[in-house]
Amino acid sequence: MELIRLDCIIVTMLATLCLLLLLILTFSWWVFPILKHKKLKSCGLGGPTPRFPLGNIEEMKIKDNVAYSHLSHDIHANVLPYFSSWQKLHGKVFIYWLGTEPFLYIAGAEFLKKMSTEVMAKRWGKPSVFRNDREPMFGSGLVMVEGNDWVRHRHIIAPAFNPLNLKAMARTMIVSTNQMIDRWTSQIKLGKHEIDVEKEIIATAGEIIAKTSFGMEDENAREVLHKLRTLQMTLFNSNRYVGVPFGKYFNVKKNLEAEKLGKEIDRILLSIVEARKKSLKNNSYQDLLSLLLKENSDVSQSAKTLTTREVVDECKTFFFGGHETTALAITWTLLLLATHEDWQNQLREEIKEVVGNNEFDVTMLAGLKKMKWVMNEVLRLYPPAPNVQRQAREDIQVDDVTVPNGTNMWIDVVAMHHDPELWGDDVNDFKPERFMDDVNGGCKHKMGYLPFGFGGRMCVGRNLTFMEYKIVLTILLSNFTFKVSPGYHHSPAIMLSLRPAHGLPLIVQPLN
Ligand SMILES: *[C@@H]1O[C@H](CO)[C@@H](O)[C@H](O)[C@H]1NC(C)=O
Ligand SMILES: *[C@@H]1O[C@H](CO)[C@@H](O)[C@H](O)[C@H]1NC(C)=O
Ligand SMILES: *[C@@H]1O[C@H](CO)[C@@H](O)[C@H](O)[C@H]1NC(C)=O
Ligand SMILES: *[C@@H]1O[C@H](CO)[C@@H](O)[C@H](O)[C@H]1NC(C)=O
Repeated sequence: MELIRLDCIIVTMLATLCLLLLLILTFSWWVFPILKHKKLKSCGLGGPTPRFPLGNIEEMKIKDNVAYSHLSHDIHANVLPYFSSWQKLHGKVFIYWLGTEPFLYIAGAEFLKKMSTEVMAKRWGKPSVFRNDREPMFGSGLVMVEGNDWVRHRHIIAPAFNPLNLKAMARTMIVSTNQMIDRWTSQIKLGKHEIDVEKEIIATAGEIIAKTSFGMEDENAREVLHKLRTLQMTLFNSNRYVGVPFGKYFNVKKNLEAEKLGKEIDRILLSIVEARKKSLKNNSYQDLLSLLLKENSDVSQSAKTLTTREVVDECKTFFFGGHETTALAITWTLLLLATHEDWQNQLREEIKEVVGNNEFDVTMLAGLKKMKWVMNEVLRLYPPAPNVQRQAREDIQVDDVTVPNGTNMWIDVVAMHHDPELWGDDVNDFKPERFMDDVNGGCKHKMGYLPFGFGGRMCVGRNLTFMEYKIVLTILLSNFTFKVSPGYHHSPAIMLSLRPAHGLPLIVQPLN
């Protein structure tokens, strides 16, 4: 009797629980997203029709082996075919869905400007779906933190990029680049003129960031770098189900692998952090790690400290962010110089004028004006950071559109950089002279050119990038000429960053 009643109670309770769970899931995956969608639609925003539970993910697959007509720089329709075709139907601002998460797609410069004047840096969020998804890669490092945490992290990190520290880093850059040159020279002496420049430059840039920011040994650096690369490929080189309910379980193997790699990287970085804490290494300049730890040990400033976990995440973020984008900027530049011999020669002439027979010195970098135009133009055509993601943390009013609190946003930098309405009919031509008299390259809208993001969240390390770019390129151009190898297959692809999918083999000849 008693037992039966207990059974009844348990069954009823379980049933109620299931019902409740079902209700919660229905609401969070169905009702709430639909309400959000309705709200956005009522403002006049269109977009492709989503299907439960994948949203528009099925339509967002990338075709393999896209055929480019020779070396066309008109890349948007190839790297982001779905956005390109949706733009034709729905304009430059519309809604699409990743699973049950609606995203506001933005490739309209004016819309972006109005939105960003409404919102200050610390009030921007980062899409929670990505934060979870990219946890093994970035943890809660600077690219992912929000609000007051972001202010605190940024405050601690910014001094690492002051002019004095940058100057100290320059020495390491010169040494590492010269080592790369020696490698190439001995390879060329053996008759091997074809060099995968992308691979080489990424390795060198990784070595530079490891030494300058963390004082790491080569072996550790190589291991972290290798694991980060594998992690990046695991996370971004396949179609995934971000935003889809239980999407994590569609790809159990890959996700477990990513988690494992993330933990292994954490372990190496943690050991470096711990070792540094003990040794209290007295650097002549303050590298990033010493800054992260210094504030950390200063108890009186507890509001400004980072936990060990945060230090590790920050190291991971900077290890990746600090080399990948710069290396890709240099890589794409070498491709463009290899195909535009006139510019390759012009830069070499400029280097001769600026450096002459003197010992190369960082103070000379400011004189490399044409190189800066070339860099700007390369970052326009092939932005290594091809998009910006945000999440509204409050309702944002843009004209008659209310972007509701919580809306995810995807800002398509590649689209804006290739938009003829912003740049004119020669938008897909390589013309560094656009930047001769105008830091915005003649773009008709100041929010149309965003190589480093926008607003207060703009890349904190861009001065480091400028310096590294100029140093590496100066040394390379003073020693070699570059031609495209017949083996090069032009296929820019987005794997978090915009990369040449099959590397960049160039034919390299020594200058003298
Ligand atoms: C570190 O260097 C500073 C100045 O260069 C010096 O004052 C300080 O005593 C040094 N600390 C240690 C632990 O060597
Ligand atoms: C936005 O939504 C979040 C989560 O629902 C909430 O915590 C926050 O207070 C909201 N912000 C504003 C300004 O209403
Ligand atoms: C970069 O350098 C310029 C000039 O030296 C300086 O005005 C600017 O604040 C620096 N930017 C960052 C993000 O450090
Ligand atoms: C590279 O070029 C620089 C400047 O011309 C020169 O000083 C250096 O010796 C060259 N390196 C090699 C390995 O030839």
